[in-house]
Amino acid sequence: MKAAVNTRYGSPDVLQIRDVPKPEPNAGEVLIRVYSTTVGRTDFGMLRPEPFFIRLFAGLLRPKRTILGMDFAGKVEVVAPGVTLFKPGDCVFGMSPTYGAHAEYLCMSENGPIATMPGDTRFDEAVICEGAWYANSCLRKLNLAPNQKILIYGASGAIGTAAVQLAKFYGAEVTAVVQTRHLDLVKSLGAHRAIDYTAEDFTQIDETFDCVLDAVGKTTFFRCRRLLSSSGTFAATDLGPWGQNAFLAIWSRVTGRNRVVFPLPGSAKALIDFLKLRMEAGEIRAVIDRKYPLDAVADAYSYVETEQKTGIVVVNVIASDENTAGNIDPPDNPHN
Ligand SMILES: NC(=O)c1ccc[n+]([C@@H]2O[C@H](COP(=O)([O-])OP(=O)(O)OC[C@H]3O[C@@H](n4cnc5c(N)ncnc54)[C@H](OP(=O)(O)O)[C@@H]3O)[C@@H](O)[C@H]2O)c1
Repeated sequence: MKAAVNTRYGSPDVLQIRDVPKPEPNAGEVLIRVYSTTVGRTDFGMLRPEPFFIRLFAGLLRPKRTILGMDFAGKVEVVAPGVTLFKPGDCVFGMSPTYGAHAEYLCMSENGPIATMPGDTRFDEAVICEGAWYANSCLRKLNLAPNQKILIYGASGAIGTAAVQLAKFYGAEVTAVVQTRHLDLVKSLGAHRAIDYTAEDFTQIDETFDCVLDAVGKTTFFRCRRLLSSSGTFAATDLGPWGQNAFLAIWSRVTGRNRVVFPLPGSAKALIDFLKLRMEAGEIRAVIDRKYPLDAVADAYSYVETEQKTGIVVVNVIASDENTAGNIDPPDNPHN
């Protein structure tokens, strides 16, 4: 099968489209024909791990995972013995904990983060799991409740666009802080108010919030402190300068003041089941910036590196204008 392979760390140039052996599902696993995947910030972080300590997990000298890609949507092609939840032909989506989705085929445990797709969803609109996973972890850690007010800074990225939609689902009143070109987008996703960070200093507005979420890792608790109500809580998706968000979260626990929380992602399996319900109810949708074919995956990485993407960057492993679940069959593939 064809896959994007990275046998060493570096810039997107190290990625090579190669023929590699097609994976074989073990007992309890399904073999999935991947239709769509994404290049996310986590993939980029695995291609060029910074800071250096990430190599303790990713592989000290060279990558342990040589095919990246977490988000996937595709069709079950083979079910191994013991599989009861899926059958060949099922359209599925989810998130691979061991990466591997930048390829034509992927194996997943049937008990892993995988679910059947809502019927009328396009494959390339189902690959929203990774950003939503971090967004939902943040909102849960913030204990966001109905009628609370939340300010989401950096609401235009993969995590931010999911966070706006999920905060709205939880019944919160959302203020989104973005650049001019994203104002209409965040309102269309459910933000009650949108602030242009290029036109005004959002930290100086005359309003307080129950929660402030830095969804893009570009501000700090100290800058946002005056936006928090007396019992308000700050969370970020990034460690922040000198890892300060982790230290502040620990200090918050020690003092019991709960001013800063640092979310660690929860159960990915539970997230996929939750997301499926949200997609079926029309409560979350994909915000797709660009789509690339697998052959151009290095270009997708280069774009993600700009930190300017809006929502997600999709890689369509099977290129099709009819990318809707149940509507298309994989073309004959000379690489199988
Ligand atoms: N995606 C993941 O799965 C993941 C996982 C773990 C951690 N993280 C971390 O979480 C953060 C967000 O990830 P992401 O994937 O959502 O990022 P992303 O999609 O790359 O976010 C890019 C968005 O942020 C906006 N942005 C850039 N600079 C900004 C600034 N100074 N102020 C406000 N908005 C700004 C950009 O729009 P404009 O430039 O037009 O404003 C763009 O729409 C990153 O720090 C990442 O390392 C991400």
